[in-house]
Amino acid sequence: MSMNIAIDGPVGAGKSSIADEVARRLGILHLDTGAMYRAAALHVLRSGVDPQDEEAASACCEKANVSVRYDHGVQRTLLEDEDVTGLIRSGEVSMATSAISRWPAVRARMVRAQRELAAAADMLIDGRDIGTRVLPDAPVKIYLTATPEERARRRYEQNREKGDATPYEQVLQELNARDRQDMNRKTDPLRQAEDAVLVDSTDMTPEQVVDAIVRIVEDVYGKQA
Ligand code: DC
Repeated sequence: MSMNIAIDGPVGAGKSSIADEVARRLGILHLDTGAMYRAAALHVLRSGVDPQDEEAASACCEKANVSVRYDHGVQRTLLEDEDVTGLIRSGEVSMATSAISRWPAVRARMVRAQRELAAAADMLIDGRDIGTRVLPDAPVKIYLTATPEERARRRYEQNREKGDATPYEQVLQELNARDRQDMNRKTDPLRQAEDAVLVDSTDMTPEQVVDAIVRIVEDVYGKQA
């Protein structure tokens, strides 16, 4: 059986960068499942379909051939044969992704694809429903979070480094809106699995978070991990 580590948590908890580093330390792959939903949302937008229209968006996603491959251990996300890794991080795609990820048919397809990937390789998988739906039997489950204010502050700083001057209050508002959408949808909302370990990174450095998660994994899988 392959080694599977599930990391879930809200937007801006640092899941992606933390998961990248933990996977590197453990010598396994990191699957960013949000990128798969994002690629499907890009397909919906490109097709001129309204992401809020359940029937149309679900049918459109049914036709979206989303896959991932690894280039020197780094995930590339593909839509058909096109590498869309660099195109799926815009605000427009983020909001459309949060919308289409509410639709059960879209989720069912993604869950199936993610289970197949997880069965085929040792992987650390990050998302919203990994510990609760995709891999309910994963031996290690982490719920990574921080206060909304701290997550917004980190996002605000990242934006500024990229030359994006969106005011802090707006960043916080958008983050709260996505949290609400992700936590209140009917199908597999974001929540901490009962057997997940809570890691609250509010007062932790990224290095401390990585160390804490690697220790949790080693407790379960042993040091050879
Ligand atoms: O992790 P992210 O910000 O790239 O995720 C983008 C959106 O996709 C997020 O609003 C919630 C959704 N998502 C999901 O519903 N389930 C997952 N396993 C991963 C992401």
